[in-house]
Order: sequence, then C-alpha cells, then structure tokens
Amino acid sequence: MKLADIGLTAQDIKDKVSKYMIETYERFDFLAETARDQYIYDEKGEEYLDFYAGIAVNSAGNCNEKVVAAAVEQTQTLMHTFNYPYTIPQALLAEKICTTIGMDKIFYQNSGTEANEAMIKMARKYGIEKYGPNRYHIVTAKMGFHGRTFGSMSATGQPGNGCQVGFGPMTYGFSYAPYNDLQAFKAACTENTIAIMIEPVQGEGGVHPATMEFMQGLRKFCDDNGMLLLIDEVQTGWCRTGKIMSFMHYGIKPDIVSMAKALGGGMPIGAICACSEVAKAFSAGSHGTTFGGHPVSCAAALAEIDELLSRNLAENAEKTGRYFMDKLKKLPHVKAVRGQGLLVGVEFDNTISGVDVKHECLKRHLLITAIGTNIIRMVPPLIINEEDCDKAYEIIKASVEALG
Ligand SMILES: Cc1ncc(COP(=O)(O)O)c(C=O)c1O
Repeated sequence: MKLADIGLTAQDIKDKVSKYMIETYERFDFLAETARDQYIYDEKGEEYLDFYAGIAVNSAGNCNEKVVAAAVEQTQTLMHTFNYPYTIPQALLAEKICTTIGMDKIFYQNSGTEANEAMIKMARKYGIEKYGPNRYHIVTAKMGFHGRTFGSMSATGQPGNGCQVGFGPMTYGFSYAPYNDLQAFKAACTENTIAIMIEPVQGEGGVHPATMEFMQGLRKFCDDNGMLLLIDEVQTGWCRTGKIMSFMHYGIKPDIVSMAKALGGGMPIGAICACSEVAKAFSAGSHGTTFGGHPVSCAAALAEIDELLSRNLAENAEKTGRYFMDKLKKLPHVKAVRGQGLLVGVEFDNTISGVDVKHECLKRHLLITAIGTNIIRMVPPLIINEEDCDKAYEIIKASVEALG
C-alpha cells in the first residue's frame, strides 16, 4: 500500500496507530512505505540506510526479488491448507535445511519464541520419557533472550527484569547461570537437568559472543551427563555470523537448534531441527500449530536460503563484519566493539545513551537499534559492502559527536 493511492498522509497513519493500536514499541518517527536491498524509503521517497533489517530478518536484502517472486507464486498457487495434506514447499524446505546444516529432522513454527517453545517441550518430553518424571530441568544463561511466550520468557535469564516484569510467576523448571562461565553452568545442573539452552551470541543481552571454551565445554558436559545441548539460533542463524549457523564456528552440533528471523527472508517462519533420537519425543498429536509450515513462508524461505548460499552471504558477513567492527573501534566514547559477522554491537561509556545515538542516526537517515542503556546494535542485510559501512560509520560518528 502507498499513501498516494489511498489519499492519506503520514500523520493520518500515526493518528490511527495512536488511536487504535496497543503500542508496546518505541517507534522510529518515520513511515516505512517501500524498501529494496539495503534501503527503506518513506512516503516522500527519502532513502534510509537499513542497518537493522527488521531485526536480523531481511538478510538477502529488503524485498529480495527472488523471495518476493517465490512468495507471490506460492500465494497464487496454494496459500494455506493446515498440516493434513502434504505440500511441496514444506518438503523441499525440510530437505534443504536438514541437509544444509547437518541435522536430521525439522518441525515448523511461526516465530522465534514459538520455535523455542517447541525446543523446550521436545527436550522435556525426551527427558521425562527417557529418564523419568523429574528430568525436565533446563539451565539457561543470565541476560539471555529466548522470546516472550511463557516457556521462552521463563527460559530468558533475567528474573524480575526486562520482559518478565509484571507477568507473575514464570514457568517452573529453569535455572540461570552467567554466560561464558562453564563452571557456573556445570554447578547449576542437578540430577533433574535434561538440557542446557544457549544463544551462541547473546543478541538482546548486549551482543556477547560465546567463547570457544564455553561452547565446546558445554557440548562435552552435556555428552558426559546424558543431557541435551539446545542452541537458540533465532538471531544468529542463516549466515548472519559469518557461518551458515553460528554453532559451526565452534565445531560442535546441537541436539536441537531453533531458528526464525532470517529464515523466511521477511515472511514469518520459525523451526526447530533435532537429531533423530531426540526428535522421536514428538509423535502424532503431541505438538502442533495451525500456521507452522505455511506454504508461502516455506516457499519464501527456500528462495531466501538459495540467495544466501548462492551469493556467499555468510562469507560477506564475515569479511564486511570484520571491516565494520575495526572501523567502529575509532568512534568517540567507545568502550567496546563486539560481534560475530554482521551481528555487531558498540558499547559506549556511560556518558552516551544508545537510544539517543539511535535517534540521532535516524535524523541522518541511518536505521540502527539500541539495547540496554549505552549499546547500539547493527544487524544489516548481509548484502552490504564496505562503502555502506563507511557511510554508516560516518553517520554514527556524527551522531555521537552531536551528543557528546
Ligand atoms: C535469540 C532469540 N531468541 C528468540 C527470539 C524471539 O523471536 P520472535 O521475536 O520471533 O518471537 C529472539 C528475538 O529477538 C531472539 O533474538
């Protein structure tokens, strides 16, 4: 839809949002009308450099032509059927994902939090059926983020903080340990623990990559103790970090991995992949979803994966991410630059607010996100080049200078 075609102004749209929508988002003060590649355009056709990609979603570029064509073609052919009949995009995507990332089986969901719900449910059912009714406990990382539904929110290790505030008791059966602290994770496990659940890079928690020792140590500890390693790749998956999946940096494999965001190239889809033995925990009737495995989302995901792989966008994320991070270290007031591939965070000293930097960047037509008090996060489409990074750097620099 375009404003010109419906006879409304940007202010009309803002007024309708304010009057009718339950607002939980801190909005950018601009209207996104169209988008292409690494750019978003407002109703006046003004260009914004997109360094957040719908939060790590539009990895092969906004409105990628092949993804759009696949979604349109599937919409016109078969839009929704539920999971009773076999459908072509589901089957082709299942094969593509499992063979590409070396996992055995997939279950489709609609979002990241739903994928994590499925991961938690599968791990619990596996543990209870294999070892007995008490083997359901899961250890996750402090300051992690796994989503906003009750299981995922309870797995999110920020007790009494952030997304848990005001929602009453969390789901029983989770403990939290400090990220990158292998000994603390081992100590948090009990005889009832069935799994450790972890992000390979804490995204929402401030862009903290896991260390090699931590990830390999967790894998070994889980193997030695009959426990599962659950890896949440909702934000890191599908080439963002410089490998197809971030776990590939660590030379390990999860028992279950969750994914969403970039998978659909802009269409909503989530999924878990599991090894065969663990996947058996789900049988007829034990889990389900109306929209999971939606043919249009699956067709778009197939096209997105094809674009990511055929254009070597993981490699571009690795190379361009390194270039960008080196450059960002020269910013004024910078305390730390962290990241993996094109999942990049900049922490400023406490004189600079991340939210203020975000707003200053918006004024200069660069879109980024802020996390915590003094961190900005950049998760651009993976098609960007060094010139785009130079442009973004100059805008961030001017924005910080304007504030400090
Ligand atoms: C690591 C991680 N897990 C889960 C989620 C939740 O995903 P969704 O917003 O699609 O429910 C997010 C979202 O940012 C995430 O970063």
